[in-house]
Amino acid sequence: MSHDLHALVASMTLEEKAGLCSGADFWHTKAVERLGIPAMLVSDGPHGLRTVAEGSANPNDSIRAVCFPAGCAAAASFDPALVRREGETLGREARSVGVGVLLGPAVNIKRSPLCGRNFEYYSEDPCLAGQIAAAFIQGVQSQGVGTSLKHFAANNQEYHRMYASSEMEERTLREIYLPAFEQAVREAQPWTVMCSYNKINGTYASENPYLLTQILRREWGFEGFVMSDWGAVSDRVKGLEAGLELEMPGSGGINDAAIVAAVREGRLEEAVLDRAVLRMLNILLRWADLDAATPRPALDRQADHHAAVAMAEECAVLLKNKGVLPLQPDQHVVYIGGFAKTPRFQGGGSSHINTDNIDNALDVAAEKHRRVQYVQGFPNDFDQRDEAEFLRAVKAAGKADVAVIFAGLPDSFESEGYDRKHMRLPDCQNNLIARVAAVQKNTVVVLHTGSPVECPWADDVAGVLCMYLGGEGVGRATDALLYGDANPSGRLPETWPLRLEDTPCYLDFPGDGTVARYNEGVYVGYRWYDARNMPVRWPFGHGLGYARFIYRDARLSAPALEEDGTVTVSVGVKNTGEVTGKEVVQLYINDATGTPGRPPKELRHFAKIKLEPGEERRVSFTLTRRDLCWYNQTIGDWYAAPGRYRVLLGHSSRDIHATLDLEYRTTRPAPLQVDEDTLIGALLKDPRTAPVLRPALEKLGTAAALNGDGGGAVNTEMMMAMFEGMPLRRLGNFGGPEVAQALPALVEQLQAAVR
Ligand code: BGC
Repeated sequence: MSHDLHALVASMTLEEKAGLCSGADFWHTKAVERLGIPAMLVSDGPHGLRTVAEGSANPNDSIRAVCFPAGCAAAASFDPALVRREGETLGREARSVGVGVLLGPAVNIKRSPLCGRNFEYYSEDPCLAGQIAAAFIQGVQSQGVGTSLKHFAANNQEYHRMYASSEMEERTLREIYLPAFEQAVREAQPWTVMCSYNKINGTYASENPYLLTQILRREWGFEGFVMSDWGAVSDRVKGLEAGLELEMPGSGGINDAAIVAAVREGRLEEAVLDRAVLRMLNILLRWADLDAATPRPALDRQADHHAAVAMAEECAVLLKNKGVLPLQPDQHVVYIGGFAKTPRFQGGGSSHINTDNIDNALDVAAEKHRRVQYVQGFPNDFDQRDEAEFLRAVKAAGKADVAVIFAGLPDSFESEGYDRKHMRLPDCQNNLIARVAAVQKNTVVVLHTGSPVECPWADDVAGVLCMYLGGEGVGRATDALLYGDANPSGRLPETWPLRLEDTPCYLDFPGDGTVARYNEGVYVGYRWYDARNMPVRWPFGHGLGYARFIYRDARLSAPALEEDGTVTVSVGVKNTGEVTGKEVVQLYINDATGTPGRPPKELRHFAKIKLEPGEERRVSFTLTRRDLCWYNQTIGDWYAAPGRYRVLLGHSSRDIHATLDLEYRTTRPAPLQVDEDTLIGALLKDPRTAPVLRPALEKLGTAAALNGDGGGAVNTEMMMAMFEGMPLRRLGNFGGPEVAQALPALVEQLQAAVR
């Protein structure tokens, strides 16, 4: 149906319009019945439905639903097509119960492994997070249900998340914390974006015009509406002006009245409110039309459960395998650890799904008649050491062919609402793993965790399989992966450091509660470990499987990339193993132009391919200028210097199989901002400003003046070198009043030269 939205807005009263800009209750927008504007139901998200039961007054009383692998695991699939299918299933589920917007995906960057909500987020890398998020949104929205891309932006910790200011340079924001949002908006147009609680450089996200209007709408072309995180509104009128359309869950009418009063008193232009209402109606009516046009599908929880199992298999990361896996059916295996019976498969907080169909590895082993014995050893929910249990476990492990320890973080160790204080597993687990490994060389550790943990026993065990938080199918997926019925193909979406002290923001996380300073800048995750050439436990992109792959004949379609052109990179990948497997080909860019301050490599593309034994395929990627760029604050835009770049193709960030040289050609001059603070050295190096500055310096007699004061410099060249790091304005200090007076004119001349 087509609607005249402008006419509809014009027919609404001021109160109705203000009312539409906040929720009716925890989970609904407001209806305007006389105009046929329906109330829309929204639900968490992201990896399952947390829809409140009909008629229930308790906002946390959610219906039963299927729990898919959490974000940490979904990203480990490195498989946007899979995540798109997850989205389609979730979209269908959401529609079946009348949900209009599913509150996800959550794409905040994992700045520190300690963030309590990392399990819900995708990656330390914006390219991976962006591709996975776009696929999720496309999947959900293909079913006529909207999404809410959250939490916009720079919400990277739980400590004081409602108040603290994330403080960083523009470059860091643009290169690390925004691109996942940018890609998701540009490629998938989520119906809504959810702004975060925190401030960014001192301004609340919920009242930040730079973020909500300049970047989101003007630069990226966002067409939906922005909603607040639950209770994230501070000044409602400021928020509306900044570009926040919907306040959730609402303020019991207080802020609606504030909007009305602001319009009446002339403090808020009514046109601003009208624009917000228009944006709301655009989505609300689109949803209502879609909902009316097609019957709601029936829920098939069994089918969706199978989908959750299949997805968990694709998300698991085999971190280490010294020939112990896959297990053989005739081996006598002992399962140790409470997670074998009660796996941890999701995190706590607003994404918690009320589900009951949970597979555990022990039951599946019984169902499949595996030769598996079970000893609890330690519980799954707290750090409890029971010596008798330990002895039983060690004894059973010593007698078995293989010991598989089901370890992980208890629920209370990581959750929305607070950050972790350390990166360790419960002591009882580390202790028992070490003792079992001492008596059983075939020890495998299966991890259930939403983020990296320190693994002090990693060198002593034969295998490590990380299931992350694999959703309700995790136990069945674990069984299939351990026994080779499925082949692990996940890759780490984040670096697993050796110890917490190695992490990029160790000294600054989580800040003092008021300010979180992002001093590490763009050096987040592998960008940091690579720049410092540090050893890590397992690098970004790492993951093993039961097949083997070789890379050969890597090629560029042309040796040089022109400014507006493209170059295709391709490489042959062959499965030389005995089983079907999947390889994730990762493409990183290294800037070899000599530009300072660039991370040694940055992921720009990846592709997951399935290969039968002996099969070979070529994988190709298209490179554009943006793949080479960094965000240059001087010009306020993306910039790539002309010169040499390297294209790195490989299996992980630290397992590169092919390196190709690529020349980038541009006529764009290098950005240079000229003012009195610009360094003399920079101006003398730049071909545009050097011819202006050099004679000016000489003419002003500065060279001579400086020579006398120049710390022994014997000629102009030496003096120039010594004063290279001196800002222009200091010339006056040395050259006397004449030079000081002439400075503004010189600055103008220099500015004209770069314009
Ligand atoms: C969370 C959001 C969530 C909302 C509604 C907030 O506390 O940060 O991610 O969608 O609650 O449950």
